[in-house]
Order: sequence, then structure tokens, then C-alpha cells
Amino acid sequence: MKLSGWHIKNNMLRIVEILDVKTENPFVKTLFFKDEICRLAEPGQFVMVWIPGVDEIPLSISFTRPDGSSSVTVAEVGEATRALTRLRVGDLVGVRGPFGSSFRAAGGRALIIGGGTGMVPLMMLIDKLARKNIEATVIEGAENSSKLVFLEELRNMVRDYGIKVFFTTEDGSYGVRGLATDLAESLLRREKFDVIYVCGPEKMIRKVYDFAKAHSVDLQASLERYMRCAVGICGSCTIGKYRVCTDGPVFDMAKLREVEEYLGAFKYNERGEKVPV
Ligand SMILES: Cc1cc2nc3c(=O)[nH]c(=O)nc-3n(C[C@H](O)[C@H](O)[C@H](O)COP(=O)(O)OP(=O)(O)OC[C@H]3O[C@@H](n4cnc5c(N)ncnc54)[C@H](O)[C@@H]3O)c2cc1C
Ligand code: FES
Repeated sequence: MKLSGWHIKNNMLRIVEILDVKTENPFVKTLFFKDEICRLAEPGQFVMVWIPGVDEIPLSISFTRPDGSSSVTVAEVGEATRALTRLRVGDLVGVRGPFGSSFRAAGGRALIIGGGTGMVPLMMLIDKLARKNIEATVIEGAENSSKLVFLEELRNMVRDYGIKVFFTTEDGSYGVRGLATDLAESLLRREKFDVIYVCGPEKMIRKVYDFAKAHSVDLQASLERYMRCAVGICGSCTIGKYRVCTDGPVFDMAKLREVEEYLGAFKYNERGEKVPV
């Protein structure tokens, strides 16, 4: 693969200082930093974040703010994410990126579905849709109330732009009891949507893909695969004929159809072995 000037510039590691840390819930933190390239990120793009002495991992850009800062929002699941959630203001990390495709803000009525931290790459999209006065309905789902994220930001967008937001929790501790996908499907039966945007666990994305196809609604989905280089060279993030780091992470309906047999079924782990999703 030939690397363009754009790839080379974005791929250069920059050391940035953590300027602010926001606790989203007991497991999730948002880290703010300033970087001239990241502030231009499009909704859905991701960065590779290097935690010195630990690892380098992919994380979506959650927000870009008018003061020129950007953020990543990280859920603690293992060694690297644990190290990130323990960072304080003034600590340093490395960033490469932003990389990958982004969500396209199409016209018409939009349904946005996020499962837990799957909301992270959707936040800038929701903001963009709201500012364009596109009718947006958001469903954020989580296991329980302690795993929900961005409640304040979403409530502000309801107040400022009149978007609709529903929360679902599996145990009923907040919002509608049940799964985000069940609520989404019942909305789809009653209302017409022109496009669905989704990010979350891949089994959930698969469910949304199946009902979007059944209802003939356009879909854009953000997928995750194991990533090392993030610029299309190492092949560790393959899904069918695509590389998630450069062809994705956001895939449209046409591309999703081409990788249907892998979606919610198989992925490759860090050793390159094919494993169930
Ligand atoms: C495009 C993209 C965007 C992402 N955005 C976010 C986000 O905004 N917030 C967030 O909390 N998480 C995000 N993730 C997931 C995040 O990268 C993993 O949770 C993280 O790498 C886990 O590292 P760990 O050392 O803490 O855990 P580990 O114990 O090493 O791994 C836990 C899980 O994370 C997966 N993982 C580990 N390393 C990588 C890697 N290099 N690439 C992909 N997956 C990996 C493992 O396969 C395993 O399933 C994103 C992943 C991708 C591919
Ligand atoms: S991470 Fe190397 S090709 Fe995608």
C-alpha cells in the first residue's frame, strides 16, 4: 500500500499533555488534550494512543471543543485501558491519527443506536446532526445505570436542539427496561427513519444490520478489530476483503453486505487466530 502525505502526517507520533479528566461513570473516563491534527477529526474517526511503557491502543475521538482540545473516552477493560483511566492532569501520552472513515451526516430522519461505550464515536455525529437541524432520535443502551455515559451532554442537546433521546438498561435501573435493539426495532415498526447509525458490541451491530436490511433502511456502523499499525499495512484488523483501520471503522450498508458472513461471527485475535466475536 502506498502511503499519502496525509497518512504520513497523521501517522507521526505526537506527545500530548492531559489537560482535563472527566469521570463519566465508575468505569469510564474522558481525557482531554490539545493536538492540532486531532481537533480536525471527523465523527467516527479514531486515534492510536500510546501509553509509555504499557501499550498503544485504538480509541475513538469523543469530542473536539471550541478551545482546540480533543478527547478520548476510555472504558477500563484491561492493562492499557486501566493505565489510561489512572492518568492525571499533566501526564503525557502519545497520539497518532486521526485515522479511518467517518460517519456521513445524511439528510432525512436519523436513528442513532449506541451500546455503552459504543456511544463514544457517535457523540460528534449527534452534535453535527443536531446543528444541521436533522431530526435525530438517539437510543443509548447499557446493562445498568452505572454504565451509561454522556447523560449530561445528551440532555443538553435535547434542550438546545430538540433531538429525542431514550436510555435503556437491561435491569431497568434507568430509562426503558430492556435492550437498545428491542426499543430500536419497535420504533422502526412505528416510524420511518432514513438512516441508522450504530456502534457497540458486534452482536448488537449484527442485530441492527439484520433489521435495517429487513426494513430497507440505510445503515452506517462502526466496527472494531484488533489494530496495530492503523494505516492498512499489518493486516491485523481484517474483516473479509476490508481493513477496518483504513476502509472503516465506519462501514456503510453496501460494504457491510460484503462482510456479512463475518459480522457478529468471527474476528482475528492478537495472534492472528480466527476466533468467534
Ligand atoms: C477503531 C476502534 C475504536 C475504539 N474506540 C474505543 C473507545 O472510544 N473507547 C474504548 O474504551 N475502547 C475503544 N476501543 C476498544 C479498545 O481499543 C480496547 O478496549 C483496548 O485496546 C483494550 O486494551 P487493554 O490493554 O485495556 O485490554 P486487553 O486485555 O489487552 O484487551 C481487552 C479487549 O480489547 C481488545 N484489544 C486489545 N488491544 C487491542 C487493539 N490494539 N486493537 C483493538 N482491540 C484491542 C482485545 O482483543 C480484547 O478483546 C476501540 C477499538 C477500535 C478498534
Ligand atoms: S491495523 Fe494494520 S492493517 Fe489495520
